[in-house]
Amino acid sequence: MEISLKDRDKVGVQDAVLLEDFNSSEVFVNNLQKRFNENLIYTNIGPVLVSVNPYKDVGIYSSQYAKEFHKKHFFETTPHIFALTDTAYRSLIEENREQCILISGESGAGKTEASKKVLQYIAEVTGSKGQVEKVKNKLFQSNPVLEAFGNAKTSRNDNSSRFGKYMDVEFDYEGNPVGGNILNYLLEKSRVINQFNGERNFHIFYQLLAGASDTMLNDLLLKRNLESYYYLSHSQKGTCNKEKSAFEELNKALTIIEFTAEEQIDIFKIIASILHLGNIGFVEEEGIASVNNNESIDAVCKLLNCDKEELKNALTHKTIDAKGDVVTSPLDRETAIYARDALAKAIYDKLFTWLVQKINSSLQANTQRKNSVIGILDIYGFEIFQKNNFEQLCINFCNEKLQQLFIDLTLKQEQQEYLKEGIEWHNIDYFDNKIICDLFEMKFKGIISIMDEECLVPGNTNDLTLLKKLNKNLQGHKHFKGFNKMLKKQMKFENNEFQVIHYAGPVVYSVKTFIEKNNDLLFRDLRYAMSNSQHSIIKNIFPKSEVMSMRLPETAFTKFKKSVNDLMKILIDKEPNYIRCIKPNDDKRPSFFDVDIVSHQVTYLGLMENLRVRRAGFAYRRSYESFLKRYKCLCKQTWPHWHGNAKDGVQQLICSLGFENDEYKMGKTKIFIRYPKSLFQTEDAFQRKKHDLVSVIKATWKGYKQRQEYRKLKLASIVVQKWYRRYQAQKAIKRRKAAVETVRRFIKGFITRNGPETEINKKFVALAKKHWLIRLSKNLPNSVLIKYWPPHPVSCNEASKLIQHYHMLHLSRIYRKNLTAERKQQFELKVLAEKLFSVNGHKKSYKNSIPQWFKNERIPSEQEEAYKLFSKSLNGERIMYSTSAVKYDRHGYKARDRILIATTKHVYIIETKGNSYTQKHGLPLNVVNLLVTAQKDKVLLVQIPEEMIKKDKGDLILEIPQLIECVTKIVSFTKNENMLSVVDEKVIEHNMKGKPGIIEVTVGNPETIQKDKPTGHLLIRATP
Ligand SMILES: Nc1ncnc2c1ncn2[C@@H]1O[C@H](COP(=O)(O)OP(=O)(O)OP(=O)(O)O)[C@@H](O)[C@H]1O
Ligand SMILES: [Mg+2]
Repeated sequence: MEISLKDRDKVGVQDAVLLEDFNSSEVFVNNLQKRFNENLIYTNIGPVLVSVNPYKDVGIYSSQYAKEFHKKHFFETTPHIFALTDTAYRSLIEENREQCILISGESGAGKTEASKKVLQYIAEVTGSKGQVEKVKNKLFQSNPVLEAFGNAKTSRNDNSSRFGKYMDVEFDYEGNPVGGNILNYLLEKSRVINQFNGERNFHIFYQLLAGASDTMLNDLLLKRNLESYYYLSHSQKGTCNKEKSAFEELNKALTIIEFTAEEQIDIFKIIASILHLGNIGFVEEEGIASVNNNESIDAVCKLLNCDKEELKNALTHKTIDAKGDVVTSPLDRETAIYARDALAKAIYDKLFTWLVQKINSSLQANTQRKNSVIGILDIYGFEIFQKNNFEQLCINFCNEKLQQLFIDLTLKQEQQEYLKEGIEWHNIDYFDNKIICDLFEMKFKGIISIMDEECLVPGNTNDLTLLKKLNKNLQGHKHFKGFNKMLKKQMKFENNEFQVIHYAGPVVYSVKTFIEKNNDLLFRDLRYAMSNSQHSIIKNIFPKSEVMSMRLPETAFTKFKKSVNDLMKILIDKEPNYIRCIKPNDDKRPSFFDVDIVSHQVTYLGLMENLRVRRAGFAYRRSYESFLKRYKCLCKQTWPHWHGNAKDGVQQLICSLGFENDEYKMGKTKIFIRYPKSLFQTEDAFQRKKHDLVSVIKATWKGYKQRQEYRKLKLASIVVQKWYRRYQAQKAIKRRKAAVETVRRFIKGFITRNGPETEINKKFVALAKKHWLIRLSKNLPNSVLIKYWPPHPVSCNEASKLIQHYHMLHLSRIYRKNLTAERKQQFELKVLAEKLFSVNGHKKSYKNSIPQWFKNERIPSEQEEAYKLFSKSLNGERIMYSTSAVKYDRHGYKARDRILIATTKHVYIIETKGNSYTQKHGLPLNVVNLLVTAQKDKVLLVQIPEEMIKKDKGDLILEIPQLIECVTKIVSFTKNENMLSVVDEKVIEHNMKGKPGIIEVTVGNPETIQKDKPTGHLLIRATP
């Protein structure tokens, strides 16, 4: 509701309790008009909904639209019939309070449409399971049936309901409709026989004639021609196509509501019989009437399955049973016509009631459980015409009763709310129409009693005697005015009229036909004839028991009063919801608001009274929570958050708004504001404040959205992170597993590395090989002299050896290539020495010679000159080696210093003295042999062949300081390795010119070479 407060000047207030001047009907109507012009056809008066018929589709009843109202508080939405229905429905379901929706208003104001919308909303918001859907369907389909038989075109409404209807919709505990029940009130049966200009009989007659097939019409003995039937001939003709489709719809509906095919035919037979009945004419002879056309009466009897003579008699005679004296008297023509019409009306009226009962039995919920109920009352509102009749009196009486109920319930509600909220209750000044209800209902003195009395007393009573009686009995009553000759000039009515001052205003009634209508007489003979019928429905609706009963039948008004009172009993236990319908003009014109016509209805619907009662207390009330929620921004203390309880918050707010004490009251859960003005000021302040707040809210909202976005992103990134970490962890695990596997394989490979190659050690061995090769490549000895060779895996034994071998070859090659010619020669000599003294024979002193450089010359300096001199004498013979030496004589083994010179061809032994020399020996190298011992001595035995002994006296025994060097040199340039022998013997013979000398070789210290005197042998003692 508050939402629309800001638009209130343009579209009016949506709740009339907010109108500042609540006493002015002009202001009220003006508010309705403003809204009507904006197509806002609904306005609230508190919980009462006022609906102005738009006479056009305003597009506010779609399913989509209905959803907007579902489960919304009545005050949160705009005024709408869906909002009202939703409130009622939710009170029923959530609080288990039975509801009724009271729809009233003038003919054409939209009551029936409203009741359909209520049903539509219920259908929208409830379930659609099989059984529920079926019930809903039946509830909906009851409408075309009731409308066909109970509605008619009138001057005010093309589809005017000519009966009052109260429909209960039953709900199960889940809130789904499970059944229904309909009560019907006061069908305008006079319409069957007579219609005003421009009006029509009930729709069914036209629908049947237009829609029935030819065969059916034949069976019903009907012609497709309205003019043929007296009861229709005066009425306005309708469009055929519309009637035809309506008839189809009716048949469908009847089937859905479970009328059997026979029942449907029987119903149409009754409708047809009424048309034929109207055509029965009478002639009068000497005051006695008789039927003048047999064709119609035949048709009636055939259709209703009754006896022709009996019916004929019943139509023209009247039997009176006066305390046992049964008297039958003929009727005059006028009475016979009256009797015929009465029969037609009675049949139609009873048929209608039977139809309602039939619908009810189909709608009965098939559970024993007590279901909760929403009642929908679609009943004629207060009526005031130029001429007001018996029907208007009934209707207006009914409205007085409904107003009573309204006052009772509204005030009671208001009072209860105040009590509940702990607010002091001040008596509200309102008009209590109980006095008018009493005017009708008082025993003996009330209008109804007086009318009944006048109908029932024997003798000549008529409408005027009734009026007299009314005048007499009610003359002093404040709300009754009878015709008074004395006051005639002041009276605006005639002498057959009286006036009742209703709560909604004065209404003048004409008593004409009051008695007849109240009596509602159907002669006993006709009732009897009907009860004898074999027609399944007729015999049912005219039960024999009723005909036989001696009790006087109740008058129409009394019957109506009773049913109204029963209705009140039903309604009083329910929570009421009011829909007050208004028509904007008399011409069914869309978008045209006739202020006079609306004002008239506002008055007669008692809306100003509604408003006054509502406003007598407080114009506005709202729970503290919702009030605070909307207006808290108007007070520093409550904005943006109020942390205390809502009531204290509202108190703060109200204080800061500067409300006067009499402007508001604080209830237990609600604030009550007395004047709309205070609310408007608050609202206006709110609207102004709103603009300031918008930017704050916008910023906050943006911040909030951003935060949300950020949170979302953060969450998303955490998810991504999580997944990525998971992925990484999985990868790491895989890696570790693989590593473990590799290590394990490595270890196993390591353990079995020295065994034969298997799958297990294959890789390790390959790796070991690789690493060994790499290691080896870095640690290869870089000199042939380094004996270190890197260790190798077992599997590389062979390879290692080969590589070592080749590497050594390689190093040697390099070594060799890098050797100087001189060094090369040295090595060749060393190799030769190795061969001579280590391989071919073993000379112990050989090892010591290895590191010593072989020289070509070892001549002491004092002998140098002599040596040079000798070398010049050599005649081109090249000296290859020369050294000092000691020569031991062959006999005495006397030691003598000499020089040994080896040339390419000879070995010379010379003796030097100063710078001169003496050649002692010159032996050709190709004939001599050389002999050395295996010990460390330095003795060289030069063996001279026998043929040369003569000249040289025997083998030469020499001691040479560098024995190994000397011998190696000589062998090298002679290239005769065989000339040397290394002998490992203790005794060596040497040739001394034909006789042998003995050399004994011993080991010991010191090293000596001398003659052993006793043996005469040369004794060589070599160091060990
Ligand atoms: N809410 C609405 N929207 C559009 N048209 C409507 C609405 N209510 C009523 N009407 C129109 O007004 C006509 C009369 O309405 P309806 O038959 O409901 O009146 P009523 O109050 O039931 O009259 P009566 O007392 O004669 O039965 C409808 O046929 C329809 O054309
Ligand atoms: Mg209606």
